[in-house]
Amino acid sequence: MAGAEILSVKGLYALNSRGHPTIKVVVATRSGAKGYGLAPSGASRGEREAVELRDGGRKWLGRGVSRVLAILENEVAPRLVGVDVTRQRYVDGLLISIDGTPNKSRIGGNLTTATSIAVARAASSHLGLEPFQYIGGVERRLLPTPLLNIINGGVHAGNKLSIQEFMIIPVGADSFLDAMRISVEVYGTLKEILKEKYGKQAINVGDEGGFAPPLEYTRDALDLLVEAITGAGYAPGADVALGIDAAASQFYDQNSQSYSIDGKQLTAPELLEYYSALADEYPLVYIEDPFWENDWESFREITRKLGSRLLIVGDDLYTTNVRYLRKGLDLHATNAVLVKINQVGTLSETIDFVHEAKWNGLRAIVSHRSGDTEDPFIADLSVALGTGLIKTGAPARGERTAKYNRLIEIESMIDSPAYAGARPFPSKPKG
Ligand code: PGA
Ligand code: ZN
Repeated sequence: MAGAEILSVKGLYALNSRGHPTIKVVVATRSGAKGYGLAPSGASRGEREAVELRDGGRKWLGRGVSRVLAILENEVAPRLVGVDVTRQRYVDGLLISIDGTPNKSRIGGNLTTATSIAVARAASSHLGLEPFQYIGGVERRLLPTPLLNIINGGVHAGNKLSIQEFMIIPVGADSFLDAMRISVEVYGTLKEILKEKYGKQAINVGDEGGFAPPLEYTRDALDLLVEAITGAGYAPGADVALGIDAAASQFYDQNSQSYSIDGKQLTAPELLEYYSALADEYPLVYIEDPFWENDWESFREITRKLGSRLLIVGDDLYTTNVRYLRKGLDLHATNAVLVKINQVGTLSETIDFVHEAKWNGLRAIVSHRSGDTEDPFIADLSVALGTGLIKTGAPARGERTAKYNRLIEIESMIDSPAYAGARPFPSKPKG
């Protein structure tokens, strides 16, 4: 189609959900099509992630992106102008080679992420397609099962919970919209329970829109979820299952080589026993980052022990990078991977990572970041890649609902949509 050449690449300041600056990139083609992309930002970041470049100094509390914007304008945009916008892999390769480092530390993973997404959107718009259609093609009709983090802990909340995320998973829904209805009912029921038990201060929300009640113990949070599911009229397990993201790097102490959780110091084998007990007591189907990001052996152990019943998911472990996934595959470290574009920095590398995982029989979960924006691109990506799973927070806060609302819209655009439901999980959760 004529006019596919990139005409301009512009960078702008934007704000993320934590009130921190981020970068927005807008790509225009000669045909008049436009596409934008916004870089999200993590709090519990893995040490192997692409580097997020910030200015330092006093302005914007050190988090300015002026340097990144200057690199975009002076070094990156001139190389992209004139390139066919549909050549995503060429564009991403160019970004990787302009950067020249293994972790995007010279031009910034925030720059490459926003640019890569903007190029994909501009290409879909140029072709008159939605991003999910452009990236996924005609075969895509699977809507993902959402994992909704409705109690926040760890570095995402001002409470004492060590575990970062407590998620409900509406596996028994009939459609994506139905999944949202059930989730909203459970979320609202939880709010009432929290207000009654702990007072109004318990319904403040954390970074991902989940409540951040003054709890300390893991079991208390899981009990509340079960109570909310039952209270909303659903069967824990069959209708709504549970998941946790321990983000264990955050409560691991390298000096004492122990994990600080529920007022105790646990060794890795003790923590594994603890997770196993939780899996016996609750309808748990998902555990993410159960150990810190360099304890590959413990990942292997938990997958050996619980992998036939639960998804054991690597987030900080892999940071969406095929290089680390290969190590995980050799070790059988997990049976699932978390997928965050900005952990690796380009769409093409993200797609390669998902394919590598899938070819090896692993599940993939497309994910937001705790500092996110109104950009719903990951909703399109989850449908395009047919992952059947998405993790994008509570059904509250605009940066989270942007993704859910987009999925509701996508479901309405597909002729015969299918909802993943319980299918991505290894076995039926215990009720
Ligand atoms: P982050 O948390 O975006 O703060 O890294 C999300 C996660 O750990 O999955
Ligand atoms: Zn995580």
